Amino acid sequence: MPQQVRGVVALKQGAPVEVVDIVVPDPGPGEAVVRVQACGVCHTDLHYREGGINDEFPFLLGHEAAGVVESVGEGVTGLAEGDFVILNWRAVCGECRACRRGRPQYCFDAHNATRPMTLLDGTPLSPALGIGAFAEKTLVAAGQCTKVDPSVPPEVAGLLGCGVMAGIGAAINTGQVGRGDSVAVFGCGGVGSAAVAGAKLAGAREVIAVDLDDAKLAKARELGATHVVNARETDPVEAIRALTGGNGADVVIDAVGRPETFEQAFYARDLAGTVVLVGVPTPEMRLELPLVDVFSRGGAVKSSWYGDCLPTRDFPMLVDLYLQGRLPLGEFVTETIGVGDVEAAFEKMHHGDILRSVVLF
Ligand SMILES: NC(=O)c1ccc[n+]([C@@H]2O[C@H](COP(=O)([O-])OP(=O)(O)OC[C@H]3O[C@@H](n4cnc5c(N)ncnc54)[C@H](O)[C@@H]3O)[C@@H](O)[C@H]2O)c1
Ligand SMILES: [Zn+2]
Ligand SMILES: [Zn+2]
Repeated sequence: MPQQVRGVVALKQGAPVEVVDIVVPDPGPGEAVVRVQACGVCHTDLHYREGGINDEFPFLLGHEAAGVVESVGEGVTGLAEGDFVILNWRAVCGECRACRRGRPQYCFDAHNATRPMTLLDGTPLSPALGIGAFAEKTLVAAGQCTKVDPSVPPEVAGLLGCGVMAGIGAAINTGQVGRGDSVAVFGCGGVGSAAVAGAKLAGAREVIAVDLDDAKLAKARELGATHVVNARETDPVEAIRALTGGNGADVVIDAVGRPETFEQAFYARDLAGTVVLVGVPTPEMRLELPLVDVFSRGGAVKSSWYGDCLPTRDFPMLVDLYLQGRLPLGEFVTETIGVGDVEAAFEKMHHGDILRSVVLF
């Protein structure tokens, strides 16, 4: 039987989100219905609401979530009612050109549920990143459910489903930070702070955090930054160079995703270093760089989609590191909120000291 539950929907571009009743169908073949326990508020949800991703309104927002499998459809193996899972947006297909070449972290055809969740009048919803988890229940492809140790609190586990994984992965997978590297991170929201923690985990020697907000920088220090730079007060490129013997960092991560931060990241990098773009730009943004600098500075300019993660490989491993006290994931949960508080959480993103607001159901 299709179920009626409450969910947070962006009905129109730029309009405040609303909590409305939605219809969640039974799981079809290869699908699962998950009772959501916690879902973090990510900047990407706000990008959706502002029409910055695409214009397929109405969106069912929310995509960094953990919960318990309520039911599975035909043919689902390895997943059953009662399993504690983190939802992912990379259920690899195994068949696309990336998967066939042994690079499933780029999967171009990741699975999502095929039956639509709808408004009460039948209007199909576009679930954010194919998840839509600011809802009491959500329908996903079974491969979007990654089982992890259930002793991790859901509000902590859920964050691995997007921003924290994206940040840690930008450092350890895309940037390939290694022991002894110098690393700089622009933007210390949930994603950038996770990149800081990831760089520390990988054994970086210097981890330089850059933000406009001193509260964010203080938090970044707690998570492993060895130096912090407030870009409102200091030119971050010069500061990073000064902290790295005049050279720039080996790996620079842009977790803001604006032309000005990307340009700073590009020039704050040592010769032959790597710059990683993990912040998501909006369609109107443009970048202008002297092509000769792209050539003569060498190295790599990479984008990081979801931290190049493989959920089945990375989620259980990072949960275990958390449970062993080696990865402070709990520090990313600044506040837990109700389902009606998502719009207020978007507001708080622009100012203040919030890494993640997490909706508890
Ligand atoms: N690539 C991916 O797979 C992926 C996954 C999740 C999120 N994201 C994206 O990552 C970005 C960050 O997400 P978040 O949730 O951490 O956002 P957030 O809003 O919580 O954090 C952004 C941080 O950047 C800082 N900032 C803004 N302008 C700056 C500047 N000029 N210089 C230095 N710092 C600046 C802000 O003060 C804030 O602390 C967003 O664009 C989001 O869409 C990407
Ligand atoms: Zn694939
Ligand atoms: Zn996200």
